[in-house]
Amino acid sequence: MQASRDFYIAPSILSADFVRLGEEVDAVVAAGADMIHFDVMDNHYVPNLSFGPMVCEALKRHGVPVPLDVHLMVEPVDDLITRFAAAGADYITFHPEASRHVDRSLALAKAAGCKAGLVLNPATPLSLIEPVLPELDMLLLMSVNPGFGGQAFIPYVLDKVRQARRLIDERGLQTRLEVDGGIKLDNIRAVAEAGGDTFVMGSAIFGMPDYKKTLKDIRDVLADV
Ligand code: DX5
Ligand code: ZN
Repeated sequence: MQASRDFYIAPSILSADFVRLGEEVDAVVAAGADMIHFDVMDNHYVPNLSFGPMVCEALKRHGVPVPLDVHLMVEPVDDLITRFAAAGADYITFHPEASRHVDRSLALAKAAGCKAGLVLNPATPLSLIEPVLPELDMLLLMSVNPGFGGQAFIPYVLDKVRQARRLIDERGLQTRLEVDGGIKLDNIRAVAEAGGDTFVMGSAIFGMPDYKKTLKDIRDVLADV
């Protein structure tokens, strides 16, 4: 049914070895990653602190031949949208609860030359973003509560993935449907069958010794979806 859908694997560097961040990114790209997922946490919107635009810029300067997918878990968002765009982000997604004027924040990211998207927490309904769906290059559905890597996938999100896929297809949109949190080799197929096409994976990739083998195993699981 979805044989023609192109699946993107987006390793989240939140689970990488920060001491060797450049090498880690090179290694997952060489292993076949389609994007690099960059989790920005501010210890305010989420109870954790990660990295900011300077690290993004350093990676860009180092050279990353795939899109940088910046997931902002920050509040407010507008200033950091501008700063990450300048730092070389390709995709910028943010949580609608963290922006007072969602449409304006999306426009800000696009005006800066980025692809723009929104992120919904597990308990946030799709109805919140329905009006703005045609404006989104990406819709990211969280399958854990944001803030930490290595958490378990929340099963009820699968239903939301199905509903989101229906909304996107019914309207003939090209919006990428990304799913983030707790995705592993043993559940990625179910996420793809529900309609996800872009898979964030942190611990399930960086926690493994051989990234090439891990990416190949993932592609094999997705091969006939
Ligand atoms: C959580 C982050 C995720 C996280 C995914 O706030 O948005 O990207 O790093 O990590 P895993 O795949 O380990 O659940
Ligand atoms: Zn993320």
